[in-house]
Amino acid sequence: MARVVVHADKAAAAQAVAVVIRDLVVAKAKAGQTAVLGLATGSTPLPLYAELIRLHREEGLSFRNVVTFNLDEYEGLSGDHDQSYRYFMEQNLFRSLDIRPENTHVPAGTATDHVRTCADYEASIQAAGGIDLQVLGIGRTGHIGFNEPPSARDSRTRRVHLDEVTRRDNSVFFGDLARVPHGALTMGVGTIMEARQIELLAFGSSKAEIVRRAYCEKPNADCPATWLQLHPACTFHLDPLSDSEL
Ligand code: F6R
Repeated sequence: MARVVVHADKAAAAQAVAVVIRDLVVAKAKAGQTAVLGLATGSTPLPLYAELIRLHREEGLSFRNVVTFNLDEYEGLSGDHDQSYRYFMEQNLFRSLDIRPENTHVPAGTATDHVRTCADYEASIQAAGGIDLQVLGIGRTGHIGFNEPPSARDSRTRRVHLDEVTRRDNSVFFGDLARVPHGALTMGVGTIMEARQIELLAFGSSKAEIVRRAYCEKPNADCPATWLQLHPACTFHLDPLSDSEL
């Protein structure tokens, strides 16, 4: 069963998760090892990324021994498109840290051979030793990464079709629904479930209903986040609003 922690607000949640990441990065560095982080985009992790930048700037936390793998990328968007997730990560995190650019991975949205690209992404995660800690948000469809319903427990990194609810939700960033891609490349549920530790963040009343379903429904493909109940080390970090239906 996933653990639930209700924080005073999203800033407090971000701070708590940043401390968990800091401790992992420091412990790995002390052991002469690399910390492998799985990262998410969207509005939810922004306060977490701001806090990681603060820890780097004000407390000297180094990301030189960190390798990152992002969950997903829109199909057809190159890294310099201002709505691509590569661009989002550069703007909101990577450019403000001392992370080595070659240690940051985001699926290639412009790849034409999806099957090969996705298999290579899985292979790079394996080659890095697997993901130590995966950061997740949750979509109102119950998606984690872009694993829209239905997504099987053992699904792997692949090309997916975005749900219309997700396209509408994300159209605020694109300014126009017509500009939101219909497809994406995403780590699979099975890929995510192999992370040794998972920290899911969900804030605000718009997430209350899906948080309740994710936590309370029997694990099922129609609400992919329910699979997280089967993970041995998964924590849901909520604020009082997203917790309101639990
Ligand atoms: C983003 C991702 C998605 C988002 C979800 C919530 O990389 O994989 O699952 O976490 O769509 O998005 P926000 O945080 O914008 O509500």
